[in-house]
Amino acid sequence: MTAERFVRETRTFKASHVLPPDTNNHNTLFGGKLMSYIDDVASVSAMKLARGPVVTASTDSVDFLHPIPVDHEVSLEAFVTWTHKTSMEIFVKIVAEDLLTGERTVCATSFLTFVALGEDGKPTMVPKVIPETKEEIFLHDSAPERAEARKQRRTRSKHLADLLGTRRPWEP
Ligand SMILES: CC(C)(COP(=O)(O)OP(=O)(O)OC[C@H]1O[C@@H](n2cnc3c(N)ncnc32)[C@H](O)[C@@H]1OP(=O)(O)O)[C@@H](O)C(=O)NCCC(=O)NCCS
Repeated sequence: MTAERFVRETRTFKASHVLPPDTNNHNTLFGGKLMSYIDDVASVSAMKLARGPVVTASTDSVDFLHPIPVDHEVSLEAFVTWTHKTSMEIFVKIVAEDLLTGERTVCATSFLTFVALGEDGKPTMVPKVIPETKEEIFLHDSAPERAEARKQRRTRSKHLADLLGTRRPWEP
């Protein structure tokens, strides 16, 4: 396995025309659809780094800053910002473009963590990424702090899952 790759080798772009099957009653892109696009583009980027199977370990919050109306282009740009041992952080930027005027708006951003899996289905080591641009270096250098916050959140999520259990309300 290559021990290192440039961030640019993981850059992935996805664009779609917002049309009625994917819109809600406000004639804007359905939030769940956008989240599925985010996971999709991020998984492609993650596999460009790992060159093997990956799974989504977590998605940080997605703030829908602006709605994306019908007849706009929604485009997503993803790249791996940082890697640890078996996990990698992916950044996704979502931009809407009014196809009649060309006006563009950043509608959301998201950080996701993917984990590479080996043939045994267990987490396996990933190559390191080398940032080059100002944006890549900024996101790479600030990643360990976000990873630490995720680690703490995961511990809290596990405690909550243990506390809540699997019993349904109507079960004795
Ligand atoms: C993610 C998963 C592979 C981790 O496996 P695990 O056996 O618990 O392994 P570990 O605890 O050793 O974690 C492996 C790596 O994942 C990272 N990780 C695990 N859960 C994480 C989370 N919620 N957020 C961020 N990173 C996470 C760990 O920090 C570790 O990173 P590192 O190796 O770079 O230090 C496992 O929990 C899993 O399969 N989850 C379900 C994934 C899935 O089904 N995704 C689709 C959602 S529908």
